[in-house]
Amino acid sequence: MNNFEYHNPTRIVFGRGVIERLSGLIPAEKKVLMTYGGGSIKRNGVYDQVMKALAGRQVLEFGQIPPNPHYEHLMEAVKLVKREQVGFLLAVGGGSVADGTKFIAAAARYEGADPWDILAKGAEVASAVPMGVVLTLPATGAESNGGAVISRHSTQEKLVFSSDHCFPRFAILDPEVTFSLPDKQVRNGIVDAYVHVMEQYATYPVNAALQDRQAEGILLALIEEGPKTLRNPKDYDSRANLVWCATQALNGLIGVGVPQDWATHYIGHELTAFYGLDHAETLAIVLPALLRNQKARKRAKLLQYARRVWGVTDADEDAAIERGIACTAEFFESLGMPTKLAAYGVSPEEAAKRVSERFAQRGTKLGEYGDIGAEQAAQILRTC
Ligand code: NZQ
Ligand code: ZN
Repeated sequence: MNNFEYHNPTRIVFGRGVIERLSGLIPAEKKVLMTYGGGSIKRNGVYDQVMKALAGRQVLEFGQIPPNPHYEHLMEAVKLVKREQVGFLLAVGGGSVADGTKFIAAAARYEGADPWDILAKGAEVASAVPMGVVLTLPATGAESNGGAVISRHSTQEKLVFSSDHCFPRFAILDPEVTFSLPDKQVRNGIVDAYVHVMEQYATYPVNAALQDRQAEGILLALIEEGPKTLRNPKDYDSRANLVWCATQALNGLIGVGVPQDWATHYIGHELTAFYGLDHAETLAIVLPALLRNQKARKRAKLLQYARRVWGVTDADEDAAIERGIACTAEFFESLGMPTKLAAYGVSPEEAAKRVSERFAQRGTKLGEYGDIGAEQAAQILRTC
């Protein structure tokens, strides 16, 4: 196992009705800016629950954060935070609202010339306004990590930053507030969480026995509980299991001491930037193709994956690996998630060209060996 340091400062408050605990989690003297998306929280009662819990506090609002939150819009909130001397940010929504709020938190304290540099140049985040999350969509794990993904419309870019200062102080996870999600978003959440695990698991072995079993445990729980919660969206237990799986998939725990890939994610971000596919839709397309392309180097873990997660018994190892990958794609398809670009009318050839040109420009190198560049990305996308 590789050396590691692990510190996750996010307090998790999980269960039915836990939004009422909000007031005890935000320091009383702080002026709060509540951030949210396009209005689902007003229709499903979450907005009212939050406002009730914060009664008597000074609360400002910044709404209309769209999926794949964008820089141009978030900078409006940065101005508001500075002008009003906001002391605490409360994100109420899914990964997009959580991510957008992390960027607002960092940009409001940024002392350089242009906060976009945090994303484009990896400029250091030396501090951030403290924040918390009321999660309404289980998928990204953003409620319990320090990462965020922000888009810029003017340049069709979607970039990542991460900082210890951007971990939410707390995450309130009430599975009941996710009952109003459309099936499509539940499906997205299952696939996103699944691929988060694969990015940290399907690499090469380093004798990290516990992390492997934890990763396999999350995958198995998603395979069992995902279809149940789609079939019966108001069943509390299966939804609660999905919520906890999604948080655990990307709160850092299964990734300690092991090599990590993330190439599927970075290639996927480009597909969202160019073609507007949902984040999880890109992952379901790229992952199977990437695993096949990298089969030789991921061989030991892919075999372990096929055997332990999918129960594949083929004696022939190549056949077993291929069956494990095929089971993955079939699982996504069974959730109603396409695994080919054609489903969205996107040409693999064109996607390969656009994404590889961009990777070449940026000198992008991805994967657990840090050597998946423009050429391999093009190879992978041509088979999507
Ligand atoms: O905007 P509203 O009206 O709230 O509607 C949202 C949005 O349209 C809706 N929704 C959320 N909760 C709901 C609900 N509708 C009904 N009932 C509810 N309870 O769902 C739609 C999608 O929301 P969004 O936040 O965009 O989805 P998700 O949580 O999947 O987040 C995706 C974003 O997170 C990034 C992705 O790239 C993408 O930008 N990611 C962030 C990560 C991180 N910070 O660690 C890691 C991930 O890999 C991912 O890249
Ligand atoms: Zn993801």
